[in-house]
Amino acid sequence: MSAMTITPVDGKVFGAVVTEVEVPGLSDAEFASIHDVLLEFGFLAFPGQFLTEKESARFGERFGQLEFGGAPMANQKRLDDGSFGDVLDLDSQMMRTNVGNETWHTDSTYKPISSKCAMLSAVVVPDQGGETELADLRAGYAALDAATKDRIEGLSAYHSTQYSQANDVGDFPTTDHDGMLASVYHGEAYLRPLVKVHPETGVKNLFIGRHAFGIPGLERSESRELLRSLLDFVVSDQSRVYTHRWQVGDTLLWDNRALLHRARPYDYAKPRVLIGTRVAGDPASELAYYPTDPEARGGRDALAAELALLRDEARDRRYGATTASW
Ligand code: OGA
Ligand code: MN
Repeated sequence: MSAMTITPVDGKVFGAVVTEVEVPGLSDAEFASIHDVLLEFGFLAFPGQFLTEKESARFGERFGQLEFGGAPMANQKRLDDGSFGDVLDLDSQMMRTNVGNETWHTDSTYKPISSKCAMLSAVVVPDQGGETELADLRAGYAALDAATKDRIEGLSAYHSTQYSQANDVGDFPTTDHDGMLASVYHGEAYLRPLVKVHPETGVKNLFIGRHAFGIPGLERSESRELLRSLLDFVVSDQSRVYTHRWQVGDTLLWDNRALLHRARPYDYAKPRVLIGTRVAGDPASELAYYPTDPEARGGRDALAAELALLRDEARDRRYGATTASW
């Protein structure tokens, strides 16, 4: 039997490729090393795994409680027999959400508990475009000058995907969804520090992305400018950015507490099917507050005020400040 091989990604400050291993059959010792190298490298690519939905969910469960497991993340409707039908209309809420995910983000920071780690596995991929990119918020923080580090220490931002949809693509989702979208579009915004101390490594990283807005204590323009400049800074150095060009069968796993990610555009008429599994964070380190907690009011009010302004400002963005009709 050959030993699991970990190869750091060339020319990048993060990321490794894991080969000579079968994810579904990982021993406890192999899983423990994978967990360790995930903390060190931030993301791991596993080529040629061809995980089923169940295997993806089971792998996720080894890291902790799932937000969802083995969920098809597709631009096609799932039919009752499990196969995929027509590609979704670009104006559907699901596609608006997918297109929104083409802006740098963290997963589930718009929920009470943000995500620990997440994985995607490729089932059908377009010939061109549709890559997934990752960026290292640890290296981004480490490279900031001392004055900027001082300035952001102690600052927080609200996180909401209603904010990011409006701001990035001019989409104004309703909050009356069932199923998965109910936990995404809900009228709440969660306050999280701009500098996160990683709960397992103790290393500091920026914790920003498209869902972050409204830094308390700063003018709106100042807050927008600061969040924009921090994000631009992180991705300005190519050694902190990795582009995954999907091959069917690949699995990509990343630490959502320390990395940004985004999808890249593609021809939306072509099918793109990934299997997604997302692991919830630890309440001790990833819980902001619950909607029933008194401090939730601040986020709700900040979001309502922000959306009122964006209603006007986002008219010229992709969806023209409209709501999907299906
Ligand atoms: C996600 C996501 C990126 C992609 O599933 O959370 O951001 O490339 N996906 O589809
Ligand atoms: Mn995502």
